[in-house]
Amino acid sequence: MLVGSLVEHPGSVIGRRARIREEHEMGFKKGPLGSAGEWLWGPDEMRWRRTFSGRPDQTASARDFATTLFAGSACVDVVEFVVSELTANTIRHTRTCEDGGWFGLELVYDDPAYIAVVDNGGRGIPAVKQPVDLLATSGRGLYLVSQLAYKMGIEGSPGLGHKVWVELDLDKPMGGSFGLEVSAAS
Ligand SMILES: Nc1ncnc2c1ncn2[C@@H]1O[C@H](COP(=O)(O)OP(=O)(O)O)[C@@H](O)[C@H]1O
Ligand SMILES: [Mg+2]
Repeated sequence: MLVGSLVEHPGSVIGRRARIREEHEMGFKKGPLGSAGEWLWGPDEMRWRRTFSGRPDQTASARDFATTLFAGSACVDVVEFVVSELTANTIRHTRTCEDGGWFGLELVYDDPAYIAVVDNGGRGIPAVKQPVDLLATSGRGLYLVSQLAYKMGIEGSPGLGHKVWVELDLDKPMGGSFGLEVSAAS
């Protein structure tokens, strides 16, 4: 049973303090609110929530929204891929695609970065399928997401809808993670 499960990948995650230290070393001047890093990485987290109507074209809008927020971060291509896969799943596999349906995107710009997508449920359970043929054109999306994630969780039920969330290392680009080109779902 994958609902409520957690996939964890150990790895170094650079924290806010290290990032602020880096900014100091780069010579950013201190202003009345502190340094640029202290202000940007201050104690309040940057959490964004947005809803989208359940149309296929809205997955691109969600992707653009997320990549704008993470622009300049090493993980922006991972963010793009994850948001594309998770939002496409809400359209393909849930009542989100029905009249009046919607999906929700939640982003936290932090280290680790947090991405969650909620859907309207109704048709089964998100499943990380393994083993998987990486060259397959379907059935590998959540597996690839799980491999890119520092942590991943699946919560909810077909009746209530699901939330699929991941934490990502802000400083880790997609690179050659899978030894092949992975193209995001449209
Ligand atoms: N949000 C969701 N709600 C319900 N079921 C889902 C959801 N996302 C994925 N699934 C289920 O998990 C399976 C694996 O998803 P995924 O790896 O993205 O492959 P694909 O979307 O290509 O089928 C899907 O085939 C579907 O049965
Ligand atoms: Mg999919």
